[in-house]
Amino acid sequence: MSVPILNASGCLDALVAPDVARTLDAFVTKTVTLLPREGNPPPRIAEVEHGMLNSIGLQNPGIDAFVSEALPALAELGVPLWVSVGGFSAREYAHVCERLDECEDVTTIELNLSCPNVEEAAETAAEITRAARAATSKPLYAKLSPATWDLAALARAVAEAGADGLSLVNTIRGLALDPATGRPVLARGAGGYSGPALLPIAAACIHACAHAVDLPIVGMGGVASGADAAMLVAAGASAIAIGTALFADPLAAERIRAELASAVGTPPAADRDSRSLSQASSA
Ligand SMILES: Cc1cc2nc3c(=O)[nH]c(=O)nc-3n(C[C@H](O)[C@H](O)[C@H](O)COP(=O)(O)O)c2cc1C
Repeated sequence: MSVPILNASGCLDALVAPDVARTLDAFVTKTVTLLPREGNPPPRIAEVEHGMLNSIGLQNPGIDAFVSEALPALAELGVPLWVSVGGFSAREYAHVCERLDECEDVTTIELNLSCPNVEEAAETAAEITRAARAATSKPLYAKLSPATWDLAALARAVAEAGADGLSLVNTIRGLALDPATGRPVLARGAGGYSGPALLPIAAACIHACAHAVDLPIVGMGGVASGADAAMLVAAGASAIAIGTALFADPLAAERIRAELASAVGTPPAADRDSRSLSQASSA
């Protein structure tokens, strides 16, 4: 089975590990915002049972420094480049998308509409998607939260607003307390929970959205093996992203690609044709 494999945003620094980035079918940047951000205070990563918690808080250099410094270096990798975009209002998302629209090296924009570690924009995900759609003609993927009660309805709303695809799922909010002190392990308190425990949650989200909208879906959440990836494909994903697993196994993409290729008896994507990443990107 040939399924494009990406990294999940924020889980790989391609400039620090270019050889790892070259194992991917597309590289997704950490979320970029209009202004530079230092992120939340440390500690902001913790290992917990069945995964990890992070409260990075969208640390990034801001769109100006990203475009002038990081982007030219990323373009030299020779890997299709997806840029993840965040913001605190629809206008901010639109500004960043407008800047990226001028950048030839950017193939796709992923709207991070679901970071659990920062304040949310006042506008809805659909309003933000509509503003971003007006600002760029590049393919737009909406990255949604597994904590959304009616995710299928949200998927329909962002599709109507102009999204070309969905990225499912972001982390889900979790809290770890130090048993000795009863205090949160992360300085911010709660963080985003990622890793193996997310897999069935991601499968449910992908399955619900695949039946609600006719958009390609990048599936992520706890993927660490070919069998995990095959499950998200069976649920309706047409591409897979790997996040937390990359910290323990930087070459996970190559391994998972090989495991998927030799998968026997993998069920086909449920009731839908699985569109390829390239088709999705040229939408
Ligand atoms: C350390 C860390 C940083 C992350 N940063 C971002 C980010 O900047 N933007 C984003 O959309 N998602 C971010 N995520 C979420 C991942 O992209 C992914 O959606 C989530 O971790 C689920 O996949 P996984 O279980 O394979 O890690 C981050 C996750 C981790 C663990």
